[in-house]
Amino acid sequence: MGATVKWGLLGAARIAERALIPAIRAAGGRIVALGCRDEARGKAFAQHHDIARVQTYLELVQDPEIDAVYIGLPNSAHLPWALAALAAGKHVLCEKPLTLNANQVAQLQAAQRIHGRVAMEAFMYRFHPVIERLHTLVRDGAIGPVRLMRGAFAFILDKPDDPRWDPALGGGALYDVGCYPIDLMRHLTGELPDVLAAQASYTDRGVDHAVSALMNFGDVHAHMDCGFTLPFHQSFEVIGSHGALRIDHPFLNTHVETALTVGNDVERFPPTDAYLLMVAHFQRVIRLEEPQRYPLDDSRAQAEAIDRVFLALEPQPSGGI
Ligand SMILES: NC(=O)c1ccc[n+]([C@@H]2O[C@H](COP(=O)([O-])OP(=O)(O)OC[C@H]3O[C@@H](n4cnc5c(N)ncnc54)[C@H](OP(=O)(O)O)[C@@H]3O)[C@@H](O)[C@H]2O)c1
Repeated sequence: MGATVKWGLLGAARIAERALIPAIRAAGGRIVALGCRDEARGKAFAQHHDIARVQTYLELVQDPEIDAVYIGLPNSAHLPWALAALAAGKHVLCEKPLTLNANQVAQLQAAQRIHGRVAMEAFMYRFHPVIERLHTLVRDGAIGPVRLMRGAFAFILDKPDDPRWDPALGGGALYDVGCYPIDLMRHLTGELPDVLAAQASYTDRGVDHAVSALMNFGDVHAHMDCGFTLPFHQSFEVIGSHGALRIDHPFLNTHVETALTVGNDVERFPPTDAYLLMVAHFQRVIRLEEPQRYPLDDSRAQAEAIDRVFLALEPQPSGGI
């Protein structure tokens, strides 16, 4: 493979348009094809974004010119299309949550071993400098041993036909936004959560639209909340024996300055395209220029953590919104 990674995008998705197309191009990748279920809509999207070919999903994953496939599909479509792309010899960058449960990640790991390609969950926030700084401060003992973590991510999902309202497509707030604080809690502690209590509110179709959980990550207490029916908020706080660290925009911060409060000091991070940093890393991993920072073992642990929250949720009540 040459120095330029040639990409195919699965789905004329909003996230592709908003974040991945600019990130791939800024990272020096070349987008050669778009996979779309609807040819006419696909052509309009491809023309608008200067993408030469529109294909079916199957044609795209089997296209010999393509090195890497970006999967920006609804959550339930991640596993089948990641498996198809790996089987066709492509590298795979797939949106979060990588799959719907830990067993599905294990299937991907088996496919990755057989086909010898890179597969990575597209958790862009991990690459933002504020998150790396948080890890360094915790690791270096800036606040002493960590005792407590609080994380939240929620917004109003006001489009009734959004796939995230559909249980058959892997909808729900825990998959969509709750995964972020849980991922960060796991990485800070190196532990999986014991879920002491969890509660959710559901739509009539059985999709969780507000979830909160009380957890222990080893001996660190943690609280997480997330939702589609709560006004936009995101926050993360780590409290240790000697102090506290707080990030005001921990997860979605491409266009805003982010503040990290360290005791009485505030460190400010300018708006940063973490998608670009993630894509650049993925491309370097493909070219064997650096090791993969978040291999599928980590995605399996993440899926196991989400599985545990689902398991702890009360049986779903009837009625909802
Ligand atoms: N990392 C982030 O910051 C971030 C942000 C938002 C979303 N995401 C993730 O990205 C993925 C896509 O999210 P999105 O908001 O961009 O979704 P979206 O705009 O609704 O696009 C999803 C795409 O999936 C395809 N699709 C295939 N089967 C479908 C079905 N049965 N119903 C609807 N669409 C179907 C469609 O592609 P066609 O063009 O072929 O019709 C559509 O363009 C999700 O996994 C989500 O969690 C990540």
